[in-house]
Amino acid sequence: MAVVAASSRGLGRAVAEALAAEGASLALCARNENTLAATADQIQQRWGVPVFHRATDLTDAEAVKSFVGATVDRFGAVHIGVANAGGPPSTSFAETKLDEWRMAFELNFMSTVHLVRELLPRMQRQKWGRIVTITSVTVKQPVDGLILSNAVRAGVAGLVKSLANEYARDNILINNVCPGYTATDRLTDLAATLAAAQGVSPDEIVARWQQHIPLGRLGRPEEFAAVVAFLCSEKAGYVTGTSTAIDGGLVKGIV
Ligand SMILES: NC(=O)c1ccc[n+]([C@@H]2O[C@H](COP(=O)([O-])OP(=O)(O)OC[C@H]3O[C@@H](n4cnc5c(N)ncnc54)[C@H](OP(=O)(O)O)[C@@H]3O)[C@@H](O)[C@H]2O)c1
Repeated sequence: MAVVAASSRGLGRAVAEALAAEGASLALCARNENTLAATADQIQQRWGVPVFHRATDLTDAEAVKSFVGATVDRFGAVHIGVANAGGPPSTSFAETKLDEWRMAFELNFMSTVHLVRELLPRMQRQKWGRIVTITSVTVKQPVDGLILSNAVRAGVAGLVKSLANEYARDNILINNVCPGYTATDRLTDLAATLAAAQGVSPDEIVARWQQHIPLGRLGRPEEFAAVVAFLCSEKAGYVTGTSTAIDGGLVKGIV
């Protein structure tokens, strides 16, 4: 049974599909009820697994508690948790307002804390668990103009490494995955924002990104999701505390 956060669209949805393909029952959340309900329905139809959903803002600790509680009431246990949320706006340091710093911390750090606080005690009792956090390649190599992602997501990678140490004895494996440029709505929005700021077309922005990617193209959400599904599986039984780039070779460093 897998809880996949922020899963009505994009990478979260692709992960939900990949886990459903492996036969996992699902609990999905996002803020917009209509999009979420449609996604839950489509996944249930396509893969024939039970799919529970609840509109939830992941920055709201009480709402996350209620979502996980309702999931456990429905399925009896949670084996897999995938932490995800929307991305912060693209800004430079000089133009970033204090409120934007606080919002990015709530959205991309505290949302993970809220989810794992609900999941870990339950996984501890059953002595089995898999948690995967979705962050970004900015954890490994900062991207100019994404100061909030560059700064805040590194904290999630540190959290994951610490939790992996603390919970290994309970057979709970915790890893972080770092998407590169992957073709989702978020990326389309980012290309449009950067294009407007630079006075070029969104296609030009995408072409520039592709020049820096050794594989020469954007990633597909299902390619990303396949790695997450592996990390959630029994096959990944000796992998914990890692941050894995799924980026077509974009990151220039060695690890
Ligand atoms: N795609 C890429 O190339 C890429 C690269 C690096 C990092 N990332 C990061 O990976 C994450 C997922 O990206 P994506 O491309 O899949 O984004 P996306 O296409 O914009 O999808 C975001 C999903 O998160 C949900 N969501 C957003 N804020 C939420 C909140 N506060 N509470 C609950 N659900 C929320 C959205 O639904 P609602 O709006 O209905 O809530 C939607 O289902 C983001 O943090 C993004 O910055 C993406």
